[in-house]
Amino acid sequence: NDGALWGGRFASGPSPALEALSRSTHFDWKLALYDIRGSHAHTTALERAGYLSADDAREMHAGLERLAQKVRSGEAQPRQADEDVHGAMEQLLLDEVGQELGGRLRAGRSRNDQIATFVRMYLIDHAEVIGRELLQLIDAIVAQAEAHPEAILPGRTHLQHAQPVLLAHQLQAHAWPLVRDIERLRDWRERAGVSPYGGGALAGSTLGLDPALVASELGLDRPAENSIDATASRDVVAEFAFIAAQIGIDLSRMAEEIIIWNTREFDFVTLDDGYSTGSSIMPQKKNPDIAELARGKSGRLIGNLTGLLATLKALPLAYNRDLQEDKEPIFDSVEQLELLLPAFTGMVATLRFHTERMAELAPEGFSLATDVAEWLVKTGVPFRDAHEISGALVRACEDRGIGLEEADDALLTDVSEHLKPGVREVLTIEGSVASRSGVGGTAPVRVTEQRAELATRAQAA
Ligand code: ARG
Repeated sequence: NDGALWGGRFASGPSPALEALSRSTHFDWKLALYDIRGSHAHTTALERAGYLSADDAREMHAGLERLAQKVRSGEAQPRQADEDVHGAMEQLLLDEVGQELGGRLRAGRSRNDQIATFVRMYLIDHAEVIGRELLQLIDAIVAQAEAHPEAILPGRTHLQHAQPVLLAHQLQAHAWPLVRDIERLRDWRERAGVSPYGGGALAGSTLGLDPALVASELGLDRPAENSIDATASRDVVAEFAFIAAQIGIDLSRMAEEIIIWNTREFDFVTLDDGYSTGSSIMPQKKNPDIAELARGKSGRLIGNLTGLLATLKALPLAYNRDLQEDKEPIFDSVEQLELLLPAFTGMVATLRFHTERMAELAPEGFSLATDVAEWLVKTGVPFRDAHEISGALVRACEDRGIGLEEADDALLTDVSEHLKPGVREVLTIEGSVASRSGVGGTAPVRVTEQRAELATRAQAA
């Protein structure tokens, strides 16, 4: 049983079928440098507790450092017989510092507490990368809003014309969920910063090693309170998978709008050549593939989350090998987001908006009918009646094939005695938008204020 981590009580080595099933080095090798950092910290803990002399500890640290170089250069690789990254690293370390010293390092730790720690360290590092990429996307959205402070967009509910809004208001509406995603990552970091190292297989260790020392050496905040929970729980991983899925969903909603805006029928945007694709058969095509991949990958990110939750459901404590199945989905969620976010940001930053086209369509669909009703309320009409009157005006205009602003005085009084010519004052798109000036509304002054607030919250997150 060459190089395995056990053997004493086994008469034979693993069958080839088991080896093939059990092997995880093709995906957990990603954690090799975290494994080495864990070993540095563990070396220090063993030395403090008197299990390694100062010379041995120095030699161990030096060997681990050489090994880290070889991992970085690609010279160190797992071998066919290694089950996982932890076993592979032990073998490589034995080559580096010899059997006698290398064989001392496994005391007081288990792959169960190692892996639970390293997946947290990996996710904490990547949460930072993803947080930075989200900030860049928010910046790109805010820059577009800033570049189009007055542009009008036909606002929609049910995908139908509803009320005119500022384009900047709509764009910023896509930035706020991303700010909350960064805040979610920050909140998650609190729970992620707990170190399972020292929990051993499940019950802790007899050796009196200092888990707080290891935690701080690893950049984590404190050791776990319960060794069983520490080695068996993966809610921190599942929560990260949720945040990743939520980010995917937030991107997919903006993506879907860009896809629609980019159709010939809408014609609200042009995509930059560098951020769109062509067709292999139709020479005229320019496709919004980044937005479509965002939409598609959001499904994949949800799948990673639900797959992980299904793995965890009803799993008895403490460690079970099922837990190895957390790695591929969570690595995938990280990698997909890190691929997607820079492309998405580039697409948003380079979008060209057809503001005239948007403004032209904004009054269509009687989108100022609510303004008429609210004008009536201001003249003392109860809203229920105002709603009816405005609805009747819409019907009358629709019958005549005209817009609300085209109704003459006779038609207005015909529909209702309350509809005085003064109502025309609210029948402009700019007037409508400017009058929605309550907190959070689409009036230009509010949207500008909101943009400053958005920048502040994003920076603070
Ligand atoms: N590779 C395993 C994982 O990813 C850790 C090893 C624990 N294996 C074991 N037989 N206790 O979860």
